[in-house]
Amino acid sequence: MTRPSPAWLRSAVFYEIYPQSFQDTNGDGIGDFQGIIDRLDYIRSLGCNALWINPCFDSPFKDAGYDVRDYKKTAPRYGTNEDLYRLFDEAHRRGIRVLLDLVPGHTSEEHPWFVESGKASPNEYSERYIWTDFWIKGIKGRPYIGGECERNGVYMLNFFKCQPALNYGFKEKTESWQHLPEDPDCLATRAAMKDVMRFWLSHGCDGFRVDMADSLVKEDDGNKSATCAVWRDLLTVLDEYPEAAMVAEWSNPAQAIAGAGFDMDFILDHPGNCYNAMLRDYENAATGPGDHSYFKKDGGCAPEDFLQDLLARCCDAQGGYLAWITCNHDTPRPSRSLTLRERELAFSVLMTLPGVPFLYYGDEIGMRYQEELPTKEGGYTRTGSRTPMQWSCEKNMGFSEADAEALYLPVDHQPGAPDVQSQEGDPASLLATVRKLTALKAQEPGLDADAEFTSLVPSASHNTDSRRIWVYRRGDLLIAVNPAGESAICTFPSDRLTAKALFLIGTAECRVEPPCDTLTVSMGPQSFCIWKTESAR
Ligand code: NOJ
Repeated sequence: MTRPSPAWLRSAVFYEIYPQSFQDTNGDGIGDFQGIIDRLDYIRSLGCNALWINPCFDSPFKDAGYDVRDYKKTAPRYGTNEDLYRLFDEAHRRGIRVLLDLVPGHTSEEHPWFVESGKASPNEYSERYIWTDFWIKGIKGRPYIGGECERNGVYMLNFFKCQPALNYGFKEKTESWQHLPEDPDCLATRAAMKDVMRFWLSHGCDGFRVDMADSLVKEDDGNKSATCAVWRDLLTVLDEYPEAAMVAEWSNPAQAIAGAGFDMDFILDHPGNCYNAMLRDYENAATGPGDHSYFKKDGGCAPEDFLQDLLARCCDAQGGYLAWITCNHDTPRPSRSLTLRERELAFSVLMTLPGVPFLYYGDEIGMRYQEELPTKEGGYTRTGSRTPMQWSCEKNMGFSEADAEALYLPVDHQPGAPDVQSQEGDPASLLATVRKLTALKAQEPGLDADAEFTSLVPSASHNTDSRRIWVYRRGDLLIAVNPAGESAICTFPSDRLTAKALFLIGTAECRVEPPCDTLTVSMGPQSFCIWKTESAR
């Protein structure tokens, strides 16, 4: 039986924090737990009621902490375990839940389990990772490393060189050194990961964002049935913590939710999917040069180009939720390609789609992607989305008291760099728009994660002068967006006959055309509107 998702997810709005860059309070140039605690009131003021904190565990930081050296110990640069427990408490006092980042597919090469497993003499950890049984025998078609340990074998990687793959087995055993997922050594890996989950949950954490959740069982292609089975076992830990929530980095809701038992699955920025088509279609060989994104004024993309994928994902997410990101620590900030108005429209849609929105720190003020930054902690091109939060126009934009050269990454000092303080109190700011949207989401049941969703235009029975207008319904709310530079008008049959605007960007009008049950929606250029509707019957 699948575990029911916790009820709080229905009205959750997450805020993702890259802890290195959020708020430094001890002047060492890097963010810390106290900094997050100090900013919890700000996070609550954004209307966010949940956090996802990127890995904050002991690590050599060759991949920004996704190379964990000790799953049960925080990285000293952020503070102690007690500081993190205090963060949980302070967050809970404000009605904010905290998800940590669980990295179950690999550890750091410096993790004591790995160090032990590389020893020539067999020990408890010898099969904790995936090793061949002879040094010259490679692992077909998979990255592997030899020459580093005394053991007679090579080991498989899960991502970078510093991240050896933990052993959850192979779907089928075709080599003598492979294990099946139910072999005792693979069950021991699962038990170790359950122990990590229990450790943090018992100290007040509210669940996990799970890194590369689809990567556990190897050669598990097609429907990932073997990895799903492992997750159904790992997630039994949550029977003891029914309020905890799990979000998968999987981007396949049928597998992640129905198959594996996650509560949410991210739609990642992958060329060809609906998220990419809406926000980030500027580096996609299939659509060619230029920015075709739906929210680009001149993007050209129309709802018919992404609706099929979006609706299929909504169907696949039944029993759980799609997780919609404004951005994340792996993705160029939306401000790289979208103007302020285009982002306002994009965020409005992301906050009103079925599922759970995730706001990436700094996107609420329009922080910019920093092109050409040298790579930091394995960030490469991702580094430009990981720069310090811009709080004010004071020293280091309020991020840290350290000298500028000592900062984790440089702050954006270029003219026009946005900051929180300057946008506070400005009703025309992006910050104000984000707050209005989250307030509406908290107030309107129609914007709950699981409220009814119907796409109305385009459809078989509408008329319009524009390919780009999109109209959908959430519960008793009617929502329309026109990203184009020209006005658009459409008519469609509806049993909803009164409509009161609750939220508006640009200009929009919705009226009933008597005598039949037809609604006409007229949208000005680059406009978005939410109407509360009532049925006349
Ligand atoms: C996905 C994470 O989001 C990314 O930042 C990391 O580098 C890889 N997984 C490897 O853990």
